[in-house]
Order: sequence, then C-alpha cells, then structure tokens
Amino acid sequence: MKGVILGGGLGTRLYPLTHVTNKHLLPIYNKPMVFYPIKTLVDAGVTEILIVTSGPHVGHFLGTLKNGKELGVTHLEYAYQEKPNGGIADALALAEDFADGDSIAVILGDNTTDATIKDAVDNFKDGSVVFLKEVPDPKRFGVAVFDKNDSTKITRIDEKPKEPESNMAVTGLYIYDNQVFDYIRQCDPDFAGRGELEITQVNNFYIEKGKLTWQELKGFWSDAGTFKSLHAASSYWASKDNG
Ligand code: G1P
Repeated sequence: MKGVILGGGLGTRLYPLTHVTNKHLLPIYNKPMVFYPIKTLVDAGVTEILIVTSGPHVGHFLGTLKNGKELGVTHLEYAYQEKPNGGIADALALAEDFADGDSIAVILGDNTTDATIKDAVDNFKDGSVVFLKEVPDPKRFGVAVFDKNDSTKITRIDEKPKEPESNMAVTGLYIYDNQVFDYIRQCDPDFAGRGELEITQVNNFYIEKGKLTWQELKGFWSDAGTFKSLHAASSYWASKDNG
C-alpha cells in the first residue's frame, strides 16, 4: 500500500497565518503539522508517500521535508494541484499515476492522531475503510448515518449536515482500492454546494456498491483548519510530551 497526504488549499480560515506559509507546515506544538500524518503512515508501514499540495507556498515543503528520509519515508513525491480550491477528491485524483494500480492510505494533512491504522492497513483487501471519531460538533464534518437495524453498517455519509443523524465524524483518514480514481471521475462539484469535488461523495459511491467499512479511531484525533482546532491539537500534543 502507498500513502497520500493532501496538503493543498489556501487555508483561508487561518489567515493571516497562512499568508506566512502553507497550512500544513504551521506548527502543532513542536513540529510542522504535516509531520504528524507522515508519522501515522510510516508507523503503519506505509513509507512510499505522495504529498499533494497547492497555493502560494508550495516550495516550502521541499525545504522542510527534503526527501523524507529523516521521517522514515523511503520514497517521497510531490504533486501540484492547479486549483487550490478544487476539493479533496480533486487533489486525490493527482495520485493516480503514483498509486500505479496499488491501494492507498490517505490522510488529510491537517489531521493529527495518536491512533494506529496499522491493523487496517495490514488487513485491507479491497473497497474502502473510513475512520470515525465521536465528536461534540458533528456539523463541522462528514457525518456517518448508520443502518437502523445494523449499526455496524453505514448507509450514507452527509457532508456538514445541518441536522446530523449521528455524532460520528468521518475523519480525514481513509483507505481505498484503486477504484477510487474512477469514482473521483464521477464526482459532481455541486454535491455539497461548495463547488468542490468532495471525498464524501467518493465514500458514498463505495457505500452504494457495499464496499465501505469503518473503524473507530482509538485515541486522540483532531483536524487543525481553524484557530480553535489548531490550538486544541497543539495543546493535546504538548500535554503528551513528558520530555
Ligand atoms: C473535510 C471533509 C469532511 C471531514 C473533514 C475531516 O472537511 O470534507 O468530510 O469530516 O475533512 O477533517 P473540510 O476540512 O474540507 O472542511
């Protein structure tokens, strides 16, 4: 399995910080944000990684990550998303050549977690896996809707619903087989009304085919796209540091 980290976008919710550099290079406690998803992949044994990035500060990635060797990455590639506001699925489309028929573990570059995804990576056969986390504010996320008769099954994922049907957020960690690229080609920019190709629509295509399973992330998880979540993530990682 190969790894893909999505580190594009303009990070407008974090202006003026993201006038300085790319969101995913801003500090979470004592490290650039993107170091955390890289560690999650490397700890799961996924060491060939593509970083998809965009926006005005893309060059900063090279100087920060170099070839990734210091972080345990055996092969590091970069891809450039022409439309920084094209959406997560639009960014992921750029990973098709890199994946080269293989399955991929995908992490949004502003998601940090101390949960392991190693078992899911090791046991993955086909279809997709999404990782869920219970949150107090599900309206901010993709939200899982469960089968009323079988709570192990997700029947639908709603993107930022006004009235969430559960408090289980779909985090920005996913595993996909190579079918994902065909599903991305079927995505509609109007799906969630923000003109972006949504990863939630991709996940719903997998659900329709009965090919989506889920696991709960055991441990801390947060995104870091707003000042509050950036601060919360930094505080958590600082509190974990006994050094
Ligand atoms: C994205 C996804 C959403 C997911 C979230 C996790 O939201 O669209 O489904 O729950 O990441 O961080 P965005 O950060 O684009 O608002």
